[in-house]
Amino acid sequence: MKIDRSLALEMARITEAAAVESGRWVGRGNKIAADDAATTAMRNTLNRMDIDGTVVIGEGEMDEAPMLYIGERLGKGGLKVDIAVDPLEGTNICANGSNGAIATIAMAPTGGFLHAPDMYMDKIVTGPAGQGIVDIDRGAGENALKLARAKGCDVQDLTVVLLNRPRHKKAIDDLREVGARILLIEDGDVAPAVATGIADSGIDMVLGTGGAPEGVLTAAAVRCVGGFMQGRLIFTCDEERDRARSMGIDALDRTYQAEEMAKGEVFFAATGVTNGDLVRGVRYFAGGARTHTVVMRSASRTIRFIETLHYFDYKPGYSK
Ligand code: FBP
Repeated sequence: MKIDRSLALEMARITEAAAVESGRWVGRGNKIAADDAATTAMRNTLNRMDIDGTVVIGEGEMDEAPMLYIGERLGKGGLKVDIAVDPLEGTNICANGSNGAIATIAMAPTGGFLHAPDMYMDKIVTGPAGQGIVDIDRGAGENALKLARAKGCDVQDLTVVLLNRPRHKKAIDDLREVGARILLIEDGDVAPAVATGIADSGIDMVLGTGGAPEGVLTAAAVRCVGGFMQGRLIFTCDEERDRARSMGIDALDRTYQAEEMAKGEVFFAATGVTNGDLVRGVRYFAGGARTHTVVMRSASRTIRFIETLHYFDYKPGYSK
């Protein structure tokens, strides 16, 4: 099914609203309130759209999330789409006022997204140069060397992003051994992963274990930029295996390519809540705010950065 390309602009409206509302909570130490603000704004905006949308990656199951829960139907009716959301990716980042929080959404034709449960996923993400070059089953150092060669640069000029977690010690040691540059982030692996596909972002590869729902959103963006991604679910107990099966995943140990996690014509949008390598954070001024958003769609691979001024007196949906 062909989706009208103007959906991309509609999606920017959704993430802009979520960023402006959650951005008011930056640094206030309350990640729940920040997430609620983003979720409410996203849901209200989605419900004003001419779509018949179903949330497949969301805030959780109906009994644990009052809004944007998996299975929730959104929109006034019309185009049938599946929706993947992370209204505030990096809740701690926002609560602590650090860099890298975004509001993000992706859409695909019905059945387009892997129904990844809320568990961990092992991921490797690069821009187009990593296609056929890096592999999730290789060591981090070897992947860095191969990617640097494919990009025609020295490995010392290659920047790899990982979540700063003890589980990544081996990969970090490996990368240090070969001399790659490493950025350790405290949270929020979607934005740097998307940035790998943007030529001058300064980020070449994202590696390691993070959230599986975030992995599906990343896959949508990777499809839009023609990048490379592999993801594999990590199970820590039988309950997680059962949960994955109940969500339609049979081959539990499978390595998924981006094309298998986000199929068909997909759309992706992200607005900065706080400053980051992908987009700038919300800047407020008297009576309004300025947002910075990236929107893209896989069919055209156009990557649009949109800077928007919002005047709250003229935006009934926004709180003043
Ligand atoms: P939240 O926005 O839900 O707080 O998640 C942020 C995040 O850092 C993701 O970007 C990442 O994939 C995941 O959490 C990592 O999980 P963990 O903190 O358990 O290592």
